[in-house]
Amino acid sequence: MPETHTLTLMLRTVQATRYVLPLREGGSLPAIVEADDQGLYVVKFRGAGQGALALVAELVAGEIARALGLTVPELVFIEVDPILGRNDPDAEIRYLLKASAGLNLALDYLPGSMMFDPAAGNTASAEIASMAVWFDAFVQNVDRTARNANLLLWHRKLHFIDHGAALFFHHNWPTAPAKAESLFAESQHHVLLPWATEIGAAGTKARGIITSELLQNILSFVPDAWLESEEATASERRTAYVEYLTRRLQAASIFEEEAIHAHQRLL
Ligand SMILES: Nc1ncnc2c1ncn2[C@@H]1O[C@H](COP(=O)(O)OP(=O)(O)OP(=O)(O)O)[C@@H](O)[C@H]1O
Ligand SMILES: [Mg+2]
Repeated sequence: MPETHTLTLMLRTVQATRYVLPLREGGSLPAIVEADDQGLYVVKFRGAGQGALALVAELVAGEIARALGLTVPELVFIEVDPILGRNDPDAEIRYLLKASAGLNLALDYLPGSMMFDPAAGNTASAEIASMAVWFDAFVQNVDRTARNANLLLWHRKLHFIDHGAALFFHHNWPTAPAKAESLFAESQHHVLLPWATEIGAAGTKARGIITSELLQNILSFVPDAWLESEEATASERRTAYVEYLTRRLQAASIFEEEAIHAHQRLL
């Protein structure tokens, strides 16, 4: 039987009830927030530096990773009431919450998780490492280096986080088409490259999973307000993302071979 993928048909929406703690190491000022379902989440705020596009990348790349079989913490929409931060002594946090009123994106918080660290002896399976290298080259995610792995070990399993810098073409749409068929030199610095002995097989598997239906389905989750601009409507943008990613998939052998060579150079 061919492998089929059933996608979560929608993302849940929760209400933020308490700002618990800023995650100081995060450049985009993410924070641990409690919600009305008694869950703790790591919130990626719309009002932070890169704005809504970082949330689009987090959602789209995160759900593609999940479809490819990589474990990503559950993603939810979270409604933020700026009243939450009204009494925070930190002006930066008050400002961030005010600028993020309304819908934001959050990941399930993994308590007690640790960052993957090869220097501490952490290792990965060939299957996961190979798919991770392929996926990060596909979505052009540079944030998976030994210095900043964005991979959490939790219950002995690898969890993929922080895709906000992926899909960087969306910061400059006029130059996007050229980037769809480009190499991805950053593969050589991928933290899981040493274990990625099956990149070709990962690519074959990925080609069977990433269909235009999957991409359309994922883009349909993204709120209009995060996509629309003076240049394009939300619907035009959804089509443009699907077209871009379809072109990149068609040209995947370019970055796939490059990643295989980068792995061979390590030996
Ligand atoms: N779901 C989670 N569960 C537990 N801890 C998390 C989770 N998500 C993020 N963290 C912690 O918060 C830190 C910052 O999160 P993240 O990397 O997503 O933010 P960022 O602002 O994009 O960071 P940076 O730009 O510094 O890489 C992570 O390095 C990790 O230690
Ligand atoms: Mg990070």
